Amino acid sequence: MKLGVIGCGKMGTALVQGAVKAGAVTAEDIRGCDPVAAALEAFTAATGAQTAADAAEIGATCDTILLATKPHDVAAALKLAAKGADGQPRLVISIAAGLTLTTLQDSAPENFRIIRTMPNTPAMVGQGATAFCRGANTTAEDAALAMQLLSSVGHTIEVPERLINAVTGVSGSGPAYIYLIIEALADGGVKAGLGRADAIKLAAQTVLGAAAMVMETGLHPAVLKDMVTSPGGTTIAALAEMENHGVRAAMIAAVDAAVRRADELGGS
Ligand SMILES: NC(=O)c1ccc[n+]([C@@H]2O[C@H](COP(=O)([O-])OP(=O)(O)OC[C@H]3O[C@@H](n4cnc5c(N)ncnc54)[C@H](O)[C@@H]3O)[C@@H](O)[C@H]2O)c1
Repeated sequence: MKLGVIGCGKMGTALVQGAVKAGAVTAEDIRGCDPVAAALEAFTAATGAQTAADAAEIGATCDTILLATKPHDVAAALKLAAKGADGQPRLVISIAAGLTLTTLQDSAPENFRIIRTMPNTPAMVGQGATAFCRGANTTAEDAALAMQLLSSVGHTIEVPERLINAVTGVSGSGPAYIYLIIEALADGGVKAGLGRADAIKLAAQTVLGAAAMVMETGLHPAVLKDMVTSPGGTTIAALAEMENHGVRAAMIAAVDAAVRRADELGGS
């Protein structure tokens, strides 16, 4: 595989850095392009990959293309890549939020096979949560390759496109909900007398540890919650307050609002 990266910004660099680190692809087989020289320099420094002049050169030289520009730059980038490909088939993996398979396919030649993904920013530290869906003309091999690349920066699942906005509501926007929770948990600690820095570290590590327990034990979160909740103890007192204040309902409503907003923005 020759992997071409169009758009070497934060997400493009994070994904390729993770893929190289995990051995999913070797740096010699990757080239990136970006009109912003500083972005391209940071990309090559982080990944060891080669560079290309523009998307046309990527289209001409790479069988697999990671499309990582902002959504409004995607159509132009795809057109250039198609010009470079000059009739050759290509696999395109898009990380542009909200752009549907149909929109992407409409900007590309018929023999470009499209995979649409919804990653999240913790991919930058190798802890992403990503879902992808694939266009009608993709192969099982294409899906396996996308799975391998995306899994190198975190947990990855395949979903039908109709569920991509649900993924946006849970994991795409989700890091922001959890930052708010971490901040609020730390506020509680500060109220009880802890220093701010210690409170933030304790809160963040608690979220990290609880998440690791869910992922590594495979137990239902309610079972893990029961394991920390002794009769008449501190934890049940706190949980009762959380239920009183509607934390569970607030999280469900937050996801619901994000899904509705994604629908409104047209990325169904
Ligand atoms: N950051 C997030 O939270 C997040 C999460 C999920 C998905 N995404 C998606 O990832 C994509 C990239 O986001 P980002 O935060 O890395 O943006 P970014 O601005 O850091 O990177 C985009 C890069 O694309 C380059 N670019 C623009 N036109 C180009 C062209 N024709 N050829 C080559 N390069 C070109 C820009 O110069 C820029 O460096 C977006 O489409 C976004 O929707 C981002």
